[in-house]
Amino acid sequence: MTTQVLEVDHLVGGYRSAEVVRDVSFSVAEGEIVALLGPNGAGKTTTLLTIAGLIRPLRGAVRVLGEPIGREATSRIARRGMVLVPDDRGLFGELNVADTLRLAQRSRVRKTDDVLELLPALQRLWRRRVALLSGGEQQMLALAAALVRRPRLLMLDEMSLGLAPQIVTGLLAAVRTMADREGTGVLLVEQHARVALGASDRAIVLRHGEIALTGRPDDVGARLEAGESSYLGDSQHTAAPPDGSDGIVVR
Ligand SMILES: Nc1ncnc2c1ncn2[C@@H]1O[C@H](COP(=O)(O)OP(=O)(O)O)[C@@H](O)[C@H]1O
Ligand SMILES: [Mg+2]
Repeated sequence: MTTQVLEVDHLVGGYRSAEVVRDVSFSVAEGEIVALLGPNGAGKTTTLLTIAGLIRPLRGAVRVLGEPIGREATSRIARRGMVLVPDDRGLFGELNVADTLRLAQRSRVRKTDDVLELLPALQRLWRRRVALLSGGEQQMLALAAALVRRPRLLMLDEMSLGLAPQIVTGLLAAVRTMADREGTGVLLVEQHARVALGASDRAIVLRHGEIALTGRPDDVGARLEAGESSYLGDSQHTAAPPDGSDGIVVR
């Protein structure tokens, strides 16, 4: 039987002022990479924070590693293997690469660690301060700091923020290897669909807090390319997004 590392069941979530996530259900199995796509403001980050137990669900249920989430459960579930990489990457500019990884794992991380063998550029930057790294290098470090913790559920929020899609594609190759090798289940949140679709096993498009489209990445990609308004409401895609990337941006 497949083990589900994440089960989201009719989740309604949001803030005092607004319901942002409306009746969303999906799961992530061990070793599976699920892309959660959607335009800016669709509710992707809110979904992640709710799964992590940092925002209380208004209705519905979330189980992470088989355990119901909740404020008290968050640290326990995190110790059992839930890792969230926030969209600001959660790094400290004053630390260097080596100390960032040491802090993440609470023990000595060596350059021969298999995570660093997957992301070898970090070995070269070992003593460099985070503040001096490029955006792509910082994202690589944030990913490495997550992977050295050997997550069973890894949630990545907008890895591509401010980066060229090719950089993210390289990082996602490391994520794929860890999913295959360690059985890490991954929830990959992205506004840039093409990058995420190329690296995932299944995709979900969130729009106005509801699941507008879900399925195999190639099917979802084709429907996004075709701009199926029946699935995406008033959504549009452009071949050349204003940020200069070449991905499909879900609007
Ligand atoms: N702390 C907050 N309080 C109230 N509303 C919020 C808060 N954070 C986000 N929102 C609103 O929730 C909606 C979804 O936001 P978010 O989950 O960040 O979307 P996404 O990550 O898909 O861009 C937006 O309309 C946003 O303005
Ligand atoms: Mg977000």
